[in-house]
Amino acid sequence: MNNSFTKIAIIGSGTMGSGIAIVFASAGIDVNLVDVDKRFLDKGMEQIGKFLEVSVKKEKITKDEQDSILKRIKPELNLEKATKEIQLVVEAIIEEEESKKELFKQLDLLCTDDVIFASNTSAISITTLSSATKRSDKFIGMHFFNPPIIMKLVEVVVGSNTTEDTVEKIMNLCKRLGKEPVPSNEAPGFIVNRILWQFLNESYKLLESGIAEKENIDKAVKLGLNHPMGPLELSDYIGLDVMLHIGEYLAIQFGDSYKPALILQKLVGEGRLGKKTGKGFYDYVE
Ligand code: 3HC
Repeated sequence: MNNSFTKIAIIGSGTMGSGIAIVFASAGIDVNLVDVDKRFLDKGMEQIGKFLEVSVKKEKITKDEQDSILKRIKPELNLEKATKEIQLVVEAIIEEEESKKELFKQLDLLCTDDVIFASNTSAISITTLSSATKRSDKFIGMHFFNPPIIMKLVEVVVGSNTTEDTVEKIMNLCKRLGKEPVPSNEAPGFIVNRILWQFLNESYKLLESGIAEKENIDKAVKLGLNHPMGPLELSDYIGLDVMLHIGEYLAIQFGDSYKPALILQKLVGEGRLGKKTGKGFYDYVE
């Protein structure tokens, strides 16, 4: 049954959840998009609407495609309703282990036994998250990259109890979504974020020790490494709170050399969370 994914629930309508919803809906899959607060859900749907408008203007999709993608995404506040007749849950809530575990515990009671649980966690152990459920065999990481519609990669993270059957179904699903799935055995940060964190954290340390101005750090990396964005600009784009959660988690797992730079902690403490709040390393005007 799980071979044919026709309807899924995505929990969390933030930047990643709403982007992932467009990816699934564009592949013809119905999506119940869930959040705890109507304001978050409205904002998620607004982001989806805006993105699709731009896609039509850029002639990436037609007006008819825009309409059918939108029709496939149903905002829902009620978790019980959202999990009826689905084949997959994709969790994309805040990067906190306990919040995720609590959610999965609830979902385990609501969903039928055949439903696969996928977490879009950036770094947290899939096996640990799966321990909150009775379906660790059907529990997997589906790690999308921001912006989910454009970035080709999905890391498919295999927990200690994830079965080969679950891995195969999710690898095939990613291909159906037009993505390039890369499997990774479980390890904190998996492949990309383990590398990315040290790279970004070094850029924060360069800035706070006055080695170079923020614009020059970004310019040097863009020109010297041919990256589309510099590390500070990219951090603002991802969200400084998200980066701080990843860094704190990796520091617990790997030790002090992974500890977040003070400047990151300071900016998050001041509510400068990056592009989404209009302020981060840089100031943004709409
Ligand atoms: N639908 C489909 N494809 C689209 C699209 C749309 N609406 N809009 C754009 N694209 C595609 C197109 O292929 C386009 O190229 P083309 O128009 O020349 O064919 C390509 O995306 C780039 O689009 P744009 O030219 O509109 O945008 P930019 O050139 O300004 O690039 C960016 C924007 C893609 C965000 C680029 O700056 C980038 O790649 N930045 C780095 C992003 C990154 O590193 N993300 C990973 C973050 S880490 C993460 O997410 C993990 C987490 O756990 C922390």
